[in-house]
Amino acid sequence: MNEHLFPLIDRLTAEHRLSLDEYEYLIAHRTPEAAARLAEHAVRARQAIYGKTVYIRGLIEVSNICKNDCLYCGIRRSNPNCQRYRLPPADILACCREGYALGFRTFVLQGGEDGYYTDALLCDLLRRIKAEWPDCAVTLSLGERSRESYAALRDAGADRYLLRHETADAAHYGSLHPSAMSYDNRMRCLRDLKELGYQVGCGFMVGPPGQTAAHLARDLHFVETFQPAMCGIGPFIPQADTPFGHEPAGTLELTCYLLSIIRLIRPNILLPATTALGTIHPEGRELGILAGANVVMPNLSPAAVRKKYLLYDNKASDGAESAQCKEALIQRMSSIGYTIVTDRGDIKL
Ligand code: 5AD
Repeated sequence: MNEHLFPLIDRLTAEHRLSLDEYEYLIAHRTPEAAARLAEHAVRARQAIYGKTVYIRGLIEVSNICKNDCLYCGIRRSNPNCQRYRLPPADILACCREGYALGFRTFVLQGGEDGYYTDALLCDLLRRIKAEWPDCAVTLSLGERSRESYAALRDAGADRYLLRHETADAAHYGSLHPSAMSYDNRMRCLRDLKELGYQVGCGFMVGPPGQTAAHLARDLHFVETFQPAMCGIGPFIPQADTPFGHEPAGTLELTCYLLSIIRLIRPNILLPATTALGTIHPEGRELGILAGANVVMPNLSPAAVRKKYLLYDNKASDGAESAQCKEALIQRMSSIGYTIVTDRGDIKL
């Protein structure tokens, strides 16, 4: 047992912050005992705000067409084996209709950076969703756009925006992305989204090539200072047709450890137990909730396209990953003492 770890965890719990060096130490010297202690504090912190409820989001993967070429991602532009698709507005509306009947009150429209989704198309779609289901929140996750575009989408009714920062280290960012993409523009987007009044989600992968404890410490420091409403983290999982296809995957253990730390940095944060976590371990989602997560995002995409949104190999899309199998999800969550609620699931401030 390392005698420095517990005092650090207690201070993180009380003060919601540590120095960069301390975050790095907490990660690099972690032990199973420290993980258990962090999870215990994290669950208590979440319970004080959200009780035993878990929020659900209906995830609609609108398009796997992407102009970017991120080295880790299966829908990168230069992957010739990816069967491309995009959903027109009528299909997206049909997913929302089905999702509403299933009890979803947040729809997440996620996709690659596909020029088909112009501001005009998206604003019209947002207005239609908001007119038909005024009690629902809409989250967009459509990558980097101009400030003007984000402003127009917000005016048309978008409530939230997910844009993982991917890594808060500019050099590491450069090693995961082609030179056409920039860390500075990523950060510009996140700042713009926040200033425009979105509930903003950042996030990063756990264990992509080249990631060190020092990089993760920077990610945690970024969460601490940016104060996002949401943070999506999941293990890196190799996709065979990408340059990182033979790299090792990130671990369940480190992902859960980081989920607990993020909960303690920002007790009210909306923290999903991600599909990637559910993919690397059959009980990944439950273990994520038990580490401090409070959101799950089952898939509402049409069955015909579901297997094509292949960010990484073996991506889970049936069972409790599927919105149509909400009963299975309810059952799994109740087996660990948690309740799924029919609610927009906004951040409690
Ligand atoms: N493994 C895990 N997560 C991935 N993402 C993209 N590719 C992978 C992969 N191979 C994540 C990125 C992106 C989000 C939509 O999915 O963090 O922001």
